Amino acid sequence: MKKLLLVALFASLSLVACKKNQAPEETPAPAQTAAPAENTAQTAEKAGVLKGIISPENQKAYSEGQKAAYMAGTHIKDKNADCAGCHGETGLLDDSETQVNEGCVGCHGDLDEMAEVTAKGEINPHKSHLGKINCTACHGGHEPSAIYCNNCHSFDIKISSEGQKPLLKKIDIEKYKNASSDVVENVDVLVIGAGGSGHIAALTAKNNGASVILVEKMPIPGGNSQLAAGGMNAAETIYQKALNIPDTKETMFQDTMKGGKNISNPDLVKVLADNSAGSMAWLTSIGAKLSAVNMGGGATYKRFHAPEGGAAVGSYLVNIYKDVAEKEGLDVRLNSPAVKLIVDETGAVKGAVIDGKHSGPYEIHAKSVVLTSGGFSANPDRVVSYRPEYTGMTTSNQPGATGDGLDLAKEADADFIDMKQIQIHPSIAVGSGTLITEAVRGVGAIMVNHEGNRFYDELSTRDKVSAAILAQPGKTAYLILDDNIRKSLNQIEGYFHLNLAKEAPTLEELAKLINVPAENLVNTVKEYNKAVDTKKDKFDKKPQTLEKKVEKGPFVAIEIAPGVHYTMGGVKINTDSQVINSKNEPIPNFYGAGEVTGGVHGANRLGGNSISETVTFGRIAGAKAAENAAK
Ligand SMILES: Cc1cc2nc3c(=O)[nH]c(=O)nc-3n(C[C@H](O)[C@H](O)[C@H](O)COP(=O)(O)OP(=O)(O)OC[C@H]3O[C@@H](n4cnc5c(N)ncnc54)[C@H](O)[C@@H]3O)c2cc1C
Ligand code: HEC
Ligand code: HEC
Ligand code: HEC
Ligand code: HEC
Repeated sequence: MKKLLLVALFASLSLVACKKNQAPEETPAPAQTAAPAENTAQTAEKAGVLKGIISPENQKAYSEGQKAAYMAGTHIKDKNADCAGCHGETGLLDDSETQVNEGCVGCHGDLDEMAEVTAKGEINPHKSHLGKINCTACHGGHEPSAIYCNNCHSFDIKISSEGQKPLLKKIDIEKYKNASSDVVENVDVLVIGAGGSGHIAALTAKNNGASVILVEKMPIPGGNSQLAAGGMNAAETIYQKALNIPDTKETMFQDTMKGGKNISNPDLVKVLADNSAGSMAWLTSIGAKLSAVNMGGGATYKRFHAPEGGAAVGSYLVNIYKDVAEKEGLDVRLNSPAVKLIVDETGAVKGAVIDGKHSGPYEIHAKSVVLTSGGFSANPDRVVSYRPEYTGMTTSNQPGATGDGLDLAKEADADFIDMKQIQIHPSIAVGSGTLITEAVRGVGAIMVNHEGNRFYDELSTRDKVSAAILAQPGKTAYLILDDNIRKSLNQIEGYFHLNLAKEAPTLEELAKLINVPAENLVNTVKEYNKAVDTKKDKFDKKPQTLEKKVEKGPFVAIEIAPGVHYTMGGVKINTDSQVINSKNEPIPNFYGAGEVTGGVHGANRLGGNSISETVTFGRIAGAKAAENAAK
């Protein structure tokens, strides 16, 4: 790929020798500095490299041997590091920032080693469900640093050189209408978007003999796929058989059609159900074991597969995909948005223009292109354009879930279906983008408004509970639970780690903490506990769900609001994962898989079907793309 060539600059510099986590005073003076009288910037200027590569406003900062207060500056000034210390002797810088990250690791150690250094607090920024990610996802070199975690959480921790680290979210595809470049790379299969679908399509195409490039616009891979907390649906798996669960592909098909209110494309649903056990077997073959089988919403039998021991399914799977990708040497490029599809005069897709963070625009010419760029729940403008009533709503999605892929596909005349079908989740924690799992209400939490009153059946369907919350003053609600309920669900402790849950020894004190009238809250709970006794609830909560009283302190409150969770609509595909155009024909060389596509989930997605879709359609898209490239 096109690399930023700083060879001339860096070759003339020496690498500062540095051992892991060395204190500054122990840092040895640069051992073999070629020209000590000359500082790094002078060397650089002499080589003429700074001109043209670095923006004029940054040039001054560089020529002073540092850049303002950012980390490159402080490292050069205080830590005796130099350009090559971070950039390596060759000075190459790809868009994934591989070389600089090797520099960080060389001096400080990798994430695991850093996690030991910062193990003190409750939240350890170097150890998380995101698994192995780049140091530069958070620490900027010549730009401010910012904690990537806080795109979804609101951790109150500091990072040095803190500021607004520029983060690419929505891509303005319109702006790139005429984009092109003389810099061209050729590949068999280009995959756009490195979430679950993208990794699986790319790995499958590679295994089928194709050369592959996988591009991702964000500084970390994983997309929404790594956020999935629950499980993956599959029928007739070895895990179900071991537990004597009499599920069939046909029942999964029927449940999915019914869940989607019968507007799904039955051919695609059939592919989903028929291939689900095969997809599970494929996952097993790469070392992912989803052997815990639970009941999921809208399912006739237990088919919601999760890792044994209660780990969240999404981060578990994505961390395995990342490991396999690394082992197989898959070319994954971060900070590399696809900004335009290259389409020839016959309408065939021929590749894409990529605008790399450092390399700028370049073209990848591909025999097949697979679109796996995910949904658009994190793009309020687009959501509201289909559903005005969702104005102002939060989301459970990662910040890059903006739906640029739909604009890319439009350029190739792709057809779209079910665009108005957008799933709302009732319980996103207020003040963060963190989903509070439905299981909290499942194990007995009640829901009150700012007056301290209950107002709806907590366990009604997602759309109804969401609408009920939005009808309350302030459009948010509190989940209220007691110590018994808290102890019955592990994940609730996680919400304490995340500072999303508040606790107090009595209901009165809890009421004060969350600013609701104490008398109302106490009466509400009294009335609810009576309903548990009589099995008769004024909001018609089903008797079998009136199980646990709210009675034992300390009591807990979590503020929630409905958020945009999943976009069912997207580009139209056929059972070979080919993208279909407005004339209802497959677009040559163009494939799609995952949340960017529509038709599988109809008007409502069943929990667990989405991860299943990423594996099944990711595999089909990858195999067909490789086959097409070999023609
Ligand atoms: C909090 C949460 C919990 C969930 N729980 C479950 C669950 O338990 N079970 C279940 O089945 N489903 C669940 N889902 C849904 C499921 O996780 C996703 O729908 C699914 O993983 C989507 O996978 P994908 O690969 O299609 O997209 P993603 O994983 O979102 O990947 C798309 C990638 O493409 C990138 N991209 C976008 N535009 C471009 C561009 N122009 N160029 C380059 N890259 C681009 C994005 O940044 C992203 O990384 C959950 C979702 C959320 C948010
Ligand atoms: C602390 C480590 C560190 C040091 C020291 C450092 N850099 Fe960087 N450099 C980075 C990182 C990280 C990036 C990636 C972008 C960012 O975070 O600023 C980068 C990016 C760059 C870029 C690409 C900028 C762009 O916009 O694409 C150039 C050019 C560069 N560095 C030159 C230099 C020069 C010249 C020096 C020595 C004066 C230097 N760097 C010292 C870490 C460092
Ligand atoms: C040539 C060795 C070297 C390289 C390369 C290097 N560092 Fe450092 N860094 C140090 C030393 C020495 C210190 C001071 C002692 C310490 O805190 O470990 C330091 C301090 C830090 C600090 C705390 C203080 C501050 O200035 O912010 C952070 C954070 C940091 N480094 C992150 C990074 C990251 C991220 C990279 C890669 C972009 C990097 N370092 C590359 C040597 C290096
Ligand atoms: C998810 C964001 C994130 C990533 C990724 C990340 N860091 Fe950090 N790092 C932080 C935060 C936040 C702090 C300050 C927290 C603290 O000091 O407890 C920090 C602190 C540091 C420090 C100073 C530690 C000390 O207290 O002496 C160093 C050195 C450092 N990071 C290096 C790295 C290196 C090397 C990598 C990559 C292997 C890396 N970081 C990846 C967020 C991150
Ligand atoms: C793209 C959004 C996103 C990002 C980025 C993110 N998280 Fe999370 N995080 C989540 C979601 C969603 C959950 C799941 C909540 C649940 O358990 O239902 C979660 C859960 C957690 C939990 C609770 C798990 C437990 O049991 O204690 C911790 C701690 C956490 N994240 C830390 C981090 C850290 C540290 C980072 C940065 C390195 C980070 N997260 C980055 C979305 C994110």
